[in-house]
Amino acid sequence: MCGIIGVLGSHEAAPLMVEALKRLEYRGYDSAGIATVHQGRLDRRRAVGKLVNLSDLLVHEPLAGKAGIGHTRWATHGAPSVTNAHPHRAGGVAVVHNGIIENFRELREELSAAGAQFQTETDTETIVLLAERHMAEGMSPAEAAEATIRRLTGAFALCFLFDGEDDLLICARQGSPLAIGHGEGEMFVGSDAIALAPLTDRITYLEEGDWAVITRKGAEIFDAAGRRANRAVTQIQIGAARIDKGGYKHFMAKEIAEQPGVIGSALDHYLSDAGIEMPGLDFAVCDRLVMVACGTASYACMVAKYWFEQLAGLPVEVDIASEFRYREPPLSPASWSVFVSQSGETADTLAALRYTKEKVAKVVSVVNVSTSSIARESDVALPILAGVEVSVASTKGFTCQLTVLALMALKAAVDRGRMDADQLAAHLAHLRNLPGLMNHALLLGNDVARIAADLAEAQDILFLGRGPMYPLALEGALKLKEISYIHAEGYASGELKHGPIALIDQHVPVVVLAPRDALYEKTVSNMQEVMARHGKVLLISDAEGVHEAGAGVWRSLTLPRIEPWLAPVLYALPAQMLAYHTAIAKGTDVDQPRNLAKSVTVE
Ligand code: F6R
Repeated sequence: MCGIIGVLGSHEAAPLMVEALKRLEYRGYDSAGIATVHQGRLDRRRAVGKLVNLSDLLVHEPLAGKAGIGHTRWATHGAPSVTNAHPHRAGGVAVVHNGIIENFRELREELSAAGAQFQTETDTETIVLLAERHMAEGMSPAEAAEATIRRLTGAFALCFLFDGEDDLLICARQGSPLAIGHGEGEMFVGSDAIALAPLTDRITYLEEGDWAVITRKGAEIFDAAGRRANRAVTQIQIGAARIDKGGYKHFMAKEIAEQPGVIGSALDHYLSDAGIEMPGLDFAVCDRLVMVACGTASYACMVAKYWFEQLAGLPVEVDIASEFRYREPPLSPASWSVFVSQSGETADTLAALRYTKEKVAKVVSVVNVSTSSIARESDVALPILAGVEVSVASTKGFTCQLTVLALMALKAAVDRGRMDADQLAAHLAHLRNLPGLMNHALLLGNDVARIAADLAEAQDILFLGRGPMYPLALEGALKLKEISYIHAEGYASGELKHGPIALIDQHVPVVVLAPRDALYEKTVSNMQEVMARHGKVLLISDAEGVHEAGAGVWRSLTLPRIEPWLAPVLYALPAQMLAYHTAIAKGTDVDQPRNLAKSVTVE
């Protein structure tokens, strides 16, 4: 959510920053801008809309200079416009900011009373105006930045650039991640390692409350109390090449197609001849799991609840993080908290994690970004190994989360004496079959595209499922609405007659997720109730399921037969493909849907 880049380089900074912002554009794409210092003079260029608009502007109005800051924005305060775009500037100070300044109204009033003129509706402008005021009082850039940072409450990552200073960046982190990159006689700042990947592989992650004074010689880091802090330089392995579409039209298509491969790698990572390798997790000593996440990741938790409870007899509570953190739920000291997050930086999930620390026996996270805040603050962090997910709509992140959660549930079953070695081996063999079955599911692409051409005409679409397919119905609906902008809802199919059935008529497509599991007959009955009211049913099942119940349905999709408990992982693929092809049919921006951003680092 908002991307930041800072460069103190030995070459022109603008092209480097635009390239880095391209890699960060998935974090926000309402507007973008850069500022540089050239021959001592601070200047900036900003454009509303996608980054390409900024690139075009720079062709006509280039910006020279080897020191600079850049930003791609996801609007929080103030509409997307050139005026509200970052970098913000007041006098000789420019800043880029990710996050929300919670006390900005109070600061704005104070600054206005002192005669400051606000040009924008943003919270960020208070930062540059404060810093400028401090400099006018005679402070050095570093003193002014520190004094400014101390006045701010909320979550932020900041990077300052100053007129007359072409060898100085000052950055700060509180609640929003920020990393410093070390080059040869060059230094960089980025809101994540992805931005810095082509520039350097040596990274220092700032910790909460840190701020840093950066010159080409290095970074001087201070902690929240103002003491010099030693933060490690870590070598990261992010190839510059990994953020391309690999011949696909969209990142989402590539990421859907990658699923058999990444799930195979995740299984290889966790499985050995001895069984499931998850050091630090002995479920025999855990009496309850509290699982917390947002959006798609929370649906993965909801699926996992069925698994932990049915396979391991381990009670699970699932919460969405934005509710959990303010509910102040009582937690048993023998329970574990589990946080699932692709980015590992989601603000609500991170805050929920911090709430459970010291209150539970163990904090576990299931994350894609191993260097993320959520991973670093957990007692045990389990990587999902999906590789970088660029498309805003999560696909491989979801199925890799499910895969790791399935392994955790199996381990819990073994640790708690609910599963013997033979049973485990049988379940693991089913998991090992998943990549092959997924490859079959991917072959449905053309069928899905034909169905999607009709779905694109709909105003409302319902997704139905029972048992662990219920959260998948929620996920299918979320995926569809976020990229096709068609209203969609997921329901537990048994719940239909308690209200939502009133929505059904011949114009409402209903996607029924019905693997042949113990609840298949019941799901089919609910489907018949829909058809009796002229609902257009798209039945997704295996060959036998479609053969048995497919008569009279509007359309069907046939998946390979799968062990029932693992069906949500496989059935996620047609749900994702439906969303993708419907969005294509509607002509929406698949990878960067309106109003959204990847990695939601504000509340
Ligand atoms: C939907 C989607 C979001 C995320 C949610 C949590 O496709 O991607 O709902 O799942 O914002 O993000 P992470 O997993 O990064 O915590």
